[in-house]
Amino acid sequence: MSSELDKKRMAHILGGGKEKQDQQRKKGKLTAFERANAIFDAGTFVEIDPFVVHDCNEFGLENKKNLGDGVITGYGLIDGRLVYSFLHDFTVLGGSLGLAFASKVCKIMDLAMKQGTPIIGINDSGGARIQEGVRSLAGYAEIFHRNVQASGVIPQISVIAGPCAGGAVYSPAITDFIIMTKSAYMFITGPDVVREVTKEQVDFNALGGASIHNEKSGVAHFVAEDEQDCFTLLRKLLSFFPSNNLENPPCIESEDDPNRQDQELNSILPSSPQKPYDMHELIRKIVDNRDFLEVQRHWAKNIIIGLARLNGNPVGIVANNPQVLAGVLDIDSCDKAARFVRFCDCFNMPLIAFVDVPGFLPGTSQEWGGIIRHGAKLLYAFSEATVPKFSIIIRKAYGGAYCVLNSKHIGADYNFAWPNAEIAVMGHEAACNIIFKKEISESANPDKKRAKLGDDYRTKFSNPYVAASLGYIDDVIEPKQTRPRLISSLKSIYKKRVNRPHRKHGNIPV
Ligand code: HXC
Repeated sequence: MSSELDKKRMAHILGGGKEKQDQQRKKGKLTAFERANAIFDAGTFVEIDPFVVHDCNEFGLENKKNLGDGVITGYGLIDGRLVYSFLHDFTVLGGSLGLAFASKVCKIMDLAMKQGTPIIGINDSGGARIQEGVRSLAGYAEIFHRNVQASGVIPQISVIAGPCAGGAVYSPAITDFIIMTKSAYMFITGPDVVREVTKEQVDFNALGGASIHNEKSGVAHFVAEDEQDCFTLLRKLLSFFPSNNLENPPCIESEDDPNRQDQELNSILPSSPQKPYDMHELIRKIVDNRDFLEVQRHWAKNIIIGLARLNGNPVGIVANNPQVLAGVLDIDSCDKAARFVRFCDCFNMPLIAFVDVPGFLPGTSQEWGGIIRHGAKLLYAFSEATVPKFSIIIRKAYGGAYCVLNSKHIGADYNFAWPNAEIAVMGHEAACNIIFKKEISESANPDKKRAKLGDDYRTKFSNPYVAASLGYIDDVIEPKQTRPRLISSLKSIYKKRVNRPHRKHGNIPV
């Protein structure tokens, strides 16, 4: 090999220099090349564009030209499947993005789109390279545009492994999933600007740390202890997805008996319909090997979303969580579930809803915050999804929430109910207070009258048989039959294809 090539390669591998790499490691972070080696199957990562440099000669940048310009781009195998990636190198100008850097990212995104493979971005960046001015802004916008074009065509996953500041946040925000390491942070404007404008005193963590974006803002989907944990999670997440929207998700050989019936499901519900139970455990008892990868588990916990397999086939799960706010639907839970439903639909992953919902959360904060349009989002998402769709009414399905949560009427293929399911416009007390207001108030004993009318209402609606008699519920099943029944139904509708009238796109209430 020529010594010039050797020298250049060595310089490139050192990024911003040994000192900067040591600083990076001291912060508990890997270098960009170490990350590539940790993510891809051993020896499979192939880099392109290592010799790109910026051509900016102002503000001292003429003396800061690093081969590769602060980002490593290429492709490799993850569990034997092709994946493209770009990895920011914080040791070079703080991973800041200029035009040459952006062009490298765009090139890799274009290649991923041509081939139809997932793309992973490893973010560790101070944002727009300030010295490059509008060139940086143009570079970002070119990337954002590609993120949008790729949305729904190839899976896009963002890892935030350090700062993700300013313009750096929007590309991850458009991608399908964001994984943050515990020490990472994301913000549009940093603590200094915040202090100047709003007088609030916050540090990086309090402003945009991993816990903020996983618990409060809903921007991130996962938090990882450290980078190794993060890359293990990343590989697992990818294992559920097809490479692109024209493929089916990868089915694997399942060791879990498709006919397995878990007897404990028959007694999982408490005797009182007011009492909560563990919906996560219910899901684990039904899916293959109890393996359920929950998404956004720290945010809007009244709804549970996540990925699992049934007889080896990846499926997306949406379930109310009776342990949080009784599983009611509110603004955040509708947003959370709607985006997940749309992701599953983009990538041909069948959807299963486990329904136990007392309705929408009442109150001014919800009404003023626009629960109407947020709830409509979830309704729209389930309704427009063309993948095989299933729902199981576990206990309550009240009011509008019954319609919204994958009901037969908005296109579900199979709807089942457990024997104690209650399907009604509202709970019996509230219902009687409205429809029998006069009878109750005129009665000699209003409490007795209310209780009697309530019992009649409950007898009529606190069971799934009225809905089943109308064909809205395809069958009432014993809880322990849920797994085999879902697997059999999935087989019977797996080839579902839906043709819709041509249109540019719908107008989901965002
Ligand atoms: C150019 C930058 C940079 C940037 C960091 N550096 N951010 N260079 N443009 N945006 C450089 C630093 O000058 C330094 O160079 C090196 O990267 C490492 O930075 P440090 O500050 O020493 O590191 P650290 O203490 O770890 O702090 C990291 C940081 C901080 C928190 C990210 O650098 C920071 O606050 N940067 C600015 C963040 C920001 O406000 N970005 C928004 C840009 S505007 P030397 O030579 O000393 O090693 C934007 C809007 C675009 O992005 C909108 C598009 C839609």
